[in-house]
Amino acid sequence: MNVEVWWARVGDVRAELVQELDSVERGRLGAYAREEDRARFLLGCAVVRRVLGLHLMRPPGEVRLERTCPDCGRPHGKVRAIDAEGMQLSVSHSGELVAVAFQPSGIAVGVDVEQVDAQLDADSVAAVSLAEVETTELARYEPADRARAFTTYWTRKEALVKATGDGIRADLSKVIVSPPDQPAALLGWSGYDGPAQLVDLEVGRDHVAALAILSSEAGRVHSIDATALLSAGSTARP
Ligand SMILES: CC(C)(COP(=O)(O)OP(=O)(O)OC[C@H]1O[C@@H](n2cnc3c(N)ncnc32)[C@H](O)[C@@H]1OP(=O)(O)O)[C@@H](O)C(=O)NCCC(=O)NCCS
Ligand SMILES: [Zn+2]
Repeated sequence: MNVEVWWARVGDVRAELVQELDSVERGRLGAYAREEDRARFLLGCAVVRRVLGLHLMRPPGEVRLERTCPDCGRPHGKVRAIDAEGMQLSVSHSGELVAVAFQPSGIAVGVDVEQVDAQLDADSVAAVSLAEVETTELARYEPADRARAFTTYWTRKEALVKATGDGIRADLSKVIVSPPDQPAALLGWSGYDGPAQLVDLEVGRDHVAALAILSSEAGRVHSIDATALLSAGSTARP
């Protein structure tokens, strides 16, 4: 069992990539007010299309995607390839980075990357998203280290709820994960009783990232730089 995690940086964006988007994606792209949000969304779409394009041997613009939200029906839910049964995807963007996790054989994955905000009031956000045992653990960190420690908890939890597809419907305080200075693991979640592996992804000082894999099967995680994938012509292999 293998999972690919493709990484793009905001600087990888190119206007031509818009040509690969469908009308729904172009609509969402046009609704972002900030240039940076546009770039991150565009890169997420382009990486998804190009990774699927490689596997389906199809130009990225001909990959058919859907993102129907189970709550409201709008196209802002988890991305799914329409005619590529079993190919599982997850997208995340924050700060400088865009991550796309891909699993080709039906195992659900969730990825979450967050830029660490040193000004974050970790204690306040912890009160609504951490379990009591986690809040107690967080309090052991020096105030200067608390934003990063909280963000580690957060990405581990978000990766899990994105893998199951619950997203913001899940109560994060019920998703109990290992402390930030220990290897990532799901310790308990009353809303889920299936298998889950959690992996911290190495992304440097400014960001924190985690990957959830809903399987107990041993496997490998490959982190791949998406720069070459994105700079190639839309029909060529990188
Ligand atoms: C999924 C969610 C946790 C995203 O978290 P975030 O840290 O803000 O953003 P990230 O960049 O990490 O992830 C965004 C990606 O999550 C994915 N996503 C959205 N809903 C998802 C779900 N239920 N499960 C898994 N992935 C989901 C999308 O691929 C999205 O990428 P896109 O914006 O490029 O299409 C959360 O915001 C959410 O559930 N959003 C759904 C949309 C929404 O606003 N719903 C409420 C209105 S009905
Ligand atoms: Zn919705």
